[in-house]
Amino acid sequence: MIQMKEFSFQYASGRRPALKDIDLEIHPGDFVGVIGNSGAGKSTLTYAINGIIPHYYPGDFYGSVLVDGMDTVETKPEQLAGKVGSVFQDVDAQMVASYVEDELLFGLENFGVPKDEIESRLQEALERTGITDLRFREIDSLSGGQKQKVAVAAIIALRPDIIVLDEPTGELDPESSEQIFRLLKSLNETYGTTIVVVEQKVGLLCGYAKRLVLLDQGRIVMEGPVREVLKSADRMEEIGIHVPRVVSLYKELVRKDLFHGAAPIHTAEAEKMMQEVLS
Ligand SMILES: Nc1ncnc2c1ncn2[C@@H]1O[C@H](COP(=O)(O)OP(=O)(O)OP(=O)(O)O)[C@@H](O)[C@H]1O
Ligand SMILES: [Mg+2]
Repeated sequence: MIQMKEFSFQYASGRRPALKDIDLEIHPGDFVGVIGNSGAGKSTLTYAINGIIPHYYPGDFYGSVLVDGMDTVETKPEQLAGKVGSVFQDVDAQMVASYVEDELLFGLENFGVPKDEIESRLQEALERTGITDLRFREIDSLSGGQKQKVAVAAIIALRPDIIVLDEPTGELDPESSEQIFRLLKSLNETYGTTIVVVEQKVGLLCGYAKRLVLLDQGRIVMEGPVREVLKSADRMEEIGIHVPRVVSLYKELVRKDLFHGAAPIHTAEAEKMMQEVLS
């Protein structure tokens, strides 16, 4: 469980708090999508969970952040790393090895995975991210999207309880983006892995996440089950968030008194909504 209580953080070189008065609980098995404009504090929120803040980025830290009861101020990020796997927004900064295989082996060997399990874990992670053919490639020769998949593979190979991803599909095409989200969903359902993912593509996110957290200028302005948050699509648009098209359509239908059901979050539901409206 992740517990943030009255948590605020201002970078040492920052002029104002990057996050302010954050009260947030993320329970085991949750799948939380984090959205917000550029500079809203999304990356900062991920750093607060994996301990990068305050250990690598010093600043003024108020309130508390607990990860499975461990206070992140008192726990080294290396200690947290066994529990929390992170995929960073800057994927180049994340890579520690020169070859794909070594990138995965680095984590597997350093986090005490039994030797006889390493090869199978490695193969499974490559398979699940669809990059088995990249195993022996030099990381420098990969595209941004391929590197993102390597970063995800290296983390899922470790099977951490919590995975925090900061825009993991930023450089991926729609099909590969869906593939990553299907993978996250399957980890969430199979192992109960807690997922916290920052994602710009709100439509994609809504098809997979259970809860949404909307940040604006360092504060949580909306938080709750996806459907609940989508009810306030107007507010989201005011803030400047691109609302999924089916949600805009849904809003319009509700406004015109043509539809009274819940907001659709999958294509199948949107189809059902249209059938109802047309019949
Ligand atoms: N290392 C840093 N030093 C000082 N200020 C920082 C640092 N990193 C981020 N900030 C500031 O903190 C605020 C939140 O930044 P953050 O990177 O968390 O936003 P974000 O929502 O992830 O934005 P983006 O969508 O552009 O990735 C911004 O005002 C930013 O300028
Ligand atoms: Mg960011």
